[in-house]
Amino acid sequence: MADQFKNYLDGKWQAARSAKAFENRNPANRDDLIGFFPASDATDVDQAVAAAKKAFPKWRLVPAPKRGEVIYRVGELLRKYKEDIARGMTREMGKVLKETRGDVQEGIDTAFYVGGEGRRLFGETTPAELPNKFAMSVRAPIGVCALITPWNFPMAIPTWKMFPALLCGNAVVLKPAEDTPLTAVRLVEILQEAGVPPGVVNLVHGRGEEVGAALVRHGDVQLVSFTGSAAVGREIASVCGQQLKRVSLELGGKNGQIVMEDADLELAVEGALWGAFGTTGQRCTATSRLIVHRDVAKKMSEMLVERAKKIKIGDGLDENIEMGPLINQAAREKVLKYIDIGKHEGARLLTGGSTHESGSCARGYFFQPTIFDQVKPDMRIAQEEIFGPVLSIIEIKSFEDAIDVLNSTAYGLSSSIYTQDVGRAFRAMRDIAAGITYVNGPTIGAEVHLPFGGVKDTGNGHREAGTTVYDIFSEWKSIYVDYSGKLQKAQIDNAE
Ligand code: UN1
Repeated sequence: MADQFKNYLDGKWQAARSAKAFENRNPANRDDLIGFFPASDATDVDQAVAAAKKAFPKWRLVPAPKRGEVIYRVGELLRKYKEDIARGMTREMGKVLKETRGDVQEGIDTAFYVGGEGRRLFGETTPAELPNKFAMSVRAPIGVCALITPWNFPMAIPTWKMFPALLCGNAVVLKPAEDTPLTAVRLVEILQEAGVPPGVVNLVHGRGEEVGAALVRHGDVQLVSFTGSAAVGREIASVCGQQLKRVSLELGGKNGQIVMEDADLELAVEGALWGAFGTTGQRCTATSRLIVHRDVAKKMSEMLVERAKKIKIGDGLDENIEMGPLINQAAREKVLKYIDIGKHEGARLLTGGSTHESGSCARGYFFQPTIFDQVKPDMRIAQEEIFGPVLSIIEIKSFEDAIDVLNSTAYGLSSSIYTQDVGRAFRAMRDIAAGITYVNGPTIGAEVHLPFGGVKDTGNGHREAGTTVYDIFSEWKSIYVDYSGKLQKAQIDNAE
């Protein structure tokens, strides 16, 4: 009998009211059943939101340094259970152990960084324009926050939303992706062990259309933070717009790596392989376009193909494996569809392009590392997010071309340039339209103490992580204290 997992509502583990459940299976081997998780609906959401609403008034009054200490303890426990969580994560979503360990580490880094912020949640003090009057600004919590998170970073993304939300004094309801409910359970068990009071964090499993939609619509949810597709992001934004609800969106990417003719090619190849095929290409920050100067394009594609063919594909629990499966059958069909689209558009398939089902991979959703060249910037494979191990090589003839091509998609999350020319590097930093730019590094590898997010259709202007995340999860309050003992009129009494 497979394990039965539960929701976490008001400090208690509970099945869905409907008693329905869904299966969680290993994408590297679909015969491996991890367990059953509650297929919740709007009734469970109501209960979770009510619990958060009830817990909020008390939690907001816990001093921020104390809230920070709780989060710090969570970080210590994440460190203690890191290996176990990483193994469970690889089993439920397929990426290789090195990467799932990195994913948990991102949660640990966030906990320690945010924990310290409890003593730094600075506002401003400033002179008032009138005598005997004091002025300052402080951050205030918002209330109940719904966190709707994806499966590709099942620990990093929930923690980089949740810890700042809690630090600011909010109560939260987490709706993790259906493909990675186990990691969310592990996180919430740790929060419980660290002493987060009942109701401050609630966990509701289930489908986006059901649980996510109910959360977004709920009248007692004041803020929605979502990471996922641009299509779903648009729907969420329109509901939140109607209700004037705070909403922060982290959506797609079509990230490009530029390689100029003066680049260290060996370094650029290594970066492109890691950026394109790490996490099987399933990162918002994955490199899906390689924008290469024509003088080095041939050499670079030969080097890439040779190395891509050698990537060891298989079960990520095996330490020798370099690339795990795609997340599920739908993802594999989507990638196959884009292979067809690329061929029809006239791109040339250099390597890969098919599922990988040999030997022990027969029961998983594996896919070969795939590289197209002769890709034109306006082809669909160069414009649309594929979310799989597919790299499109686009040749350019100048630096200006490279920047134009890089900027020619609807998205703007991550970007990179390989060059030895410091002038070009600085021009790229200035002119690339993206939230993140790397120089001589791949498009992946964001650190938790810098803002994370993108321009254009990648989001709606917010930045997670860094110091900017507190602008999502708090509201500014300006405070004036008049100790003059008389009525003083701003803009009037101080006029000449
Ligand atoms: C994502 O791609 O969904 O920069 C998040 C990186 C990671 C975070 C990625 N630290 O690739």
